[in-house]
Amino acid sequence: MKVLVTGAAGFIGMHIAQILLKRGEKVVGIDNLNDYYDPCLKHARLAQLTPYPNFKFIQGDIADRQTIEDLFAKEKPSRVINLAAQAGVRYSLKNPHAYIQTNLVGFGNLLEGCRHNDVEHLVYASSSSVYGANTHRPFSVHDNVDHPVSLYAASKKANELMAHTYSHLYGLPTTGLRYFTVYGPWGRPDMSPWLFTSAILEGRSIDVFNHGRMQRDFTYIDDIAQGTVRVLDRTATSNPDFFTGAPDPGTSYAPYRIYNIGNHQPVELMTFIQTIEKALGQEARKNYLPMQKGDVVATCADVEDLKRDVGYEPKTSLEYGIERWIEWYKKYMS
Ligand SMILES: NC(=O)c1ccc[n+]([C@@H]2O[C@H](COP(=O)([O-])OP(=O)(O)OC[C@H]3O[C@@H](n4cnc5c(N)ncnc54)[C@H](O)[C@@H]3O)[C@@H](O)[C@H]2O)c1
Repeated sequence: MKVLVTGAAGFIGMHIAQILLKRGEKVVGIDNLNDYYDPCLKHARLAQLTPYPNFKFIQGDIADRQTIEDLFAKEKPSRVINLAAQAGVRYSLKNPHAYIQTNLVGFGNLLEGCRHNDVEHLVYASSSSVYGANTHRPFSVHDNVDHPVSLYAASKKANELMAHTYSHLYGLPTTGLRYFTVYGPWGRPDMSPWLFTSAILEGRSIDVFNHGRMQRDFTYIDDIAQGTVRVLDRTATSNPDFFTGAPDPGTSYAPYRIYNIGNHQPVELMTFIQTIEKALGQEARKNYLPMQKGDVVATCADVEDLKRDVGYEPKTSLEYGIERWIEWYKKYMS
């Protein structure tokens, strides 16, 4: 198998590429190494991948049509995992154009690349953010998600719609994975585990939104990466029971699937903070703030479909995951 992993220098991309490389697959990684957060971290992640002889890295932008056309023509990947995106809900209020460029234009280029090069399976990152104003929990892929509350969420929902079109028109098997708040070693500096850990260690106060009354389905990176590879191995197929008179949003008559990939164990924000405090042996100074625009109060993944179809079973407890995270953070920062 030759797998194109976009966003290979990113948090999730690096872990997935590593699993594939260890398994002996050929991996071509592309990343533009942009400075949304410190590119040094992206280079350090890449340094974990470059020792594998079956890894090839291309620095490039998925929103650049020629780059992607040339990449597909030259490398002819059999499968594609798209993790390159402008991530982050809050930043989408500040810089919406970054989301339009990468998440829409870039995703369109990848779909075209898959279509013209007989790609067997496209797996792409969607997000729990697509649930938006839908508060019916646990979040199910069979529920309606037509009310996004940020442009980030809208761009991810748009990816699902664009993918369906290609599955329908060209028979391209596509699977969208709605990731739920991923944490662990090599994590992102703009996300809460990093923001909280760095602030506590440096004696700064932490921002606690909605006065702490939030819940997140925190999911450990190893569970996410292994689940994604399981999905990659199982090409999306059509649902023979799909009924166009009452369409199920998570499946289709076309080779198109959507799954949640989360822990199915939502954690109170204050419990999350206490777990970090305990692991660090230091208490956080807290700056309680109202809810931020674009955010949702709680997330919880219904992962029954993923369990049934690929045997997905998240194993990592929050306590264990946070310990691994802090162990990595201290080593990396030193
Ligand atoms: N981490 C989470 O909790 C989470 C939750 C839901 C969804 N997701 C999605 O999962 C995917 C991976 O997220 P992550 O946490 O690893 O983020 P990340 O920012 O660490 O990784 C994304 C990578 O894509 C690269 N990139 C961005 N724009 C690009 C472009 N135009 N061309 C080429 N490369 C580009 C970045 O440089 C980065 O290395 C994203 O699609 C994200 O939206 C992540």
